[in-house]
Amino acid sequence: MSDSLKTVKFTKSIQAGLSKNFDCGNPALTLFLKNHIALDISYGTTYVMMADNTIVGYYNISTGCIVTEDNIRMGGSVYINCLAVDIKYQKKKFMGNYYSDILLADCLNHDINLREEIGFGFITLSSTEEGDYLYERNGFFQLEEDMSIAKNQGEDKCSPMYLPLDYE
Ligand SMILES: CC(C)(COP(=O)(O)OP(=O)(O)OC[C@H]1O[C@@H](n2cnc3c(N)ncnc32)[C@H](O)[C@@H]1OP(=O)(O)O)[C@@H](O)C(=O)NCCC(=O)NCCS
Repeated sequence: MSDSLKTVKFTKSIQAGLSKNFDCGNPALTLFLKNHIALDISYGTTYVMMADNTIVGYYNISTGCIVTEDNIRMGGSVYINCLAVDIKYQKKKFMGNYYSDILLADCLNHDINLREEIGFGFITLSSTEEGDYLYERNGFFQLEEDMSIAKNQGEDKCSPMYLPLDYE
């Protein structure tokens, strides 16, 4: 395993090369990185975390919002479309922390850095069963009954979750 990690914006050349070996165990989320959608700015922006010449994991972020039962906006959000860690790095640690926690922390830092520019109050996502524990231990809540978010196609079985940025 490498002694350093770096996150970079996903590019055509990374897709053509390193993404071929990526496998997170979830066929749809593995395929996402190899498909044109991962580079489609209208869908979201993809970042990959690398250790040497290997992709440890990736995330794709876009915008979203939380609405009430009456479809009134409660606040804007950054929506994490996808986040996945390669099987080789799942349940493994780097300097005492799970790679999954490091990848999510990187994603959240990235999001929070955008806050001054765009203005939003939440991070939202639709979690797979495998992701639930990761998000819960990092402060995310299941969406309340009177809240809803728009999901992507294929996320019907996922649990909507949110992280309030001004939670006290
Ligand atoms: C979701 C994902 C990033 C989580 O990464 P991970 O490295 O597997 O991290 P986990 O949180 O599952 O595991 C970390 C630890 O928590 C434990 N854990 C996981 N779920 C748990 C639970 N419900 N209760 C208690 N402990 C749990 C694991 O056993 C592990 O501990 P261990 O090292 O003692 O075995 C990874 O499984 C993945 O990429 N999956 C495919 C893509 C996906 O589903 N992404 C989420 C989409 S939103």
